[in-house]
Amino acid sequence: MRACHRAVGEWLEPIGIRGAVDAAGNLRAVYPGQNPAAPRLLIGSHLDTVPNAGAYDGVLGLLLAIALIEELGGERLPFAVELVGFSEEEGVRFGAPFIGSRALVGRMDPALLGLRDREGVTVQEAIERFGLDPSRLPEAAIADDVLAFLEFHIEQGPTLEHLGLPLAAVEAIVGQTRSTLTFRGQANHAETTTMALRRDALAEAAEWMVAVEREAQSTAGLVATVGAVEARPGATNVIPGEACLTLDLRHASDPVRTRAGRRLTALAEEISARRRLSLESRVLLEQPAVALDPFLTAQAEEAIRGAGCTPHRMPSGAGHDAMILAERVPAAMIFLRSPGGISHDPFESVWPEDVAYAIASGVGLLKQLAVSRAFLLNTRTSRA
Ligand code: HGY
Ligand code: MN
Ligand code: MN
Repeated sequence: MRACHRAVGEWLEPIGIRGAVDAAGNLRAVYPGQNPAAPRLLIGSHLDTVPNAGAYDGVLGLLLAIALIEELGGERLPFAVELVGFSEEEGVRFGAPFIGSRALVGRMDPALLGLRDREGVTVQEAIERFGLDPSRLPEAAIADDVLAFLEFHIEQGPTLEHLGLPLAAVEAIVGQTRSTLTFRGQANHAETTTMALRRDALAEAAEWMVAVEREAQSTAGLVATVGAVEARPGATNVIPGEACLTLDLRHASDPVRTRAGRRLTALAEEISARRRLSLESRVLLEQPAVALDPFLTAQAEEAIRGAGCTPHRMPSGAGHDAMILAERVPAAMIFLRSPGGISHDPFESVWPEDVAYAIASGVGLLKQLAVSRAFLLNTRTSRA
């Protein structure tokens, strides 16, 4: 992240602004408005990513924001533009996502600061080891002068490619549940323990994982992913006494998602009882679905059309920092086509011409908002 901040800092130089790192590790840089008291528009995305990732998920959103400022060529707008590179959106290290953006909406609560990574380091300690001061987290929160948040992001799915379109205005972001389950049985010798006497934690986890897949396949619109499995002690000739799994559930309807979560946890308890094992399950995130701002989404659609593209509206299955900022300010997203629908993989990519359309749409959107009294006076009745 330090190297990433240095690289982004160099990309900020041509537009004459300097980045600063807030107490949550977010990189923040302000392109001033026409006067010092101008309100501000936030544009950004996350700088962290997943293991063995592609090169666009997150960071493209910040680079596009820098490109928009470059395109302005020094022109000042009635609002300042604050570029934000969020420090932690994926949730890879601590299990719970959106840590950076939660600092901007003032939700870095003790439970979040106390989450531990695989080495037992807490979020609070990680902030301190990065050379930041957790007691200054309140200063990272946005003030009331923020008019809106805008995020450019790759779609990370096949829809735009299937439609042959470069861009989309995102209407809503589906909700997600992230949890961990630990099945505990009895480690034992792989030879001397008959099958009837085993309490094999990994065998139970496998039975449950097949049931997870079956649940998602039989529930329209539900996706369920067991992304990580760890068997302990993890030796060829030892029956696993413990199996730790992660579960990621997504659905456009919150009740359907939470009902599926309860059903799968109950199933894990039932299998545990039958196999004489114990279960510890922990919900790390219950993130409701979020409708993005209708006024800004309509403005984004108009800007996409103005850039010469056929606009398209769609929901996002992937989670984004926009769903956290939307708790405090109107938020909007513009998707770029994902060739092959690939993401969270080195084959993730974008078409350069789609990036050009995104920059043209972004500049068009800034110009539209710059002359919108409803936006500048924040008098819209657009909040869903
Ligand atoms: O997991 C997601 O939905 C996103 O990539 N953070
Ligand atoms: Mn991602
Ligand atoms: Mn992302």
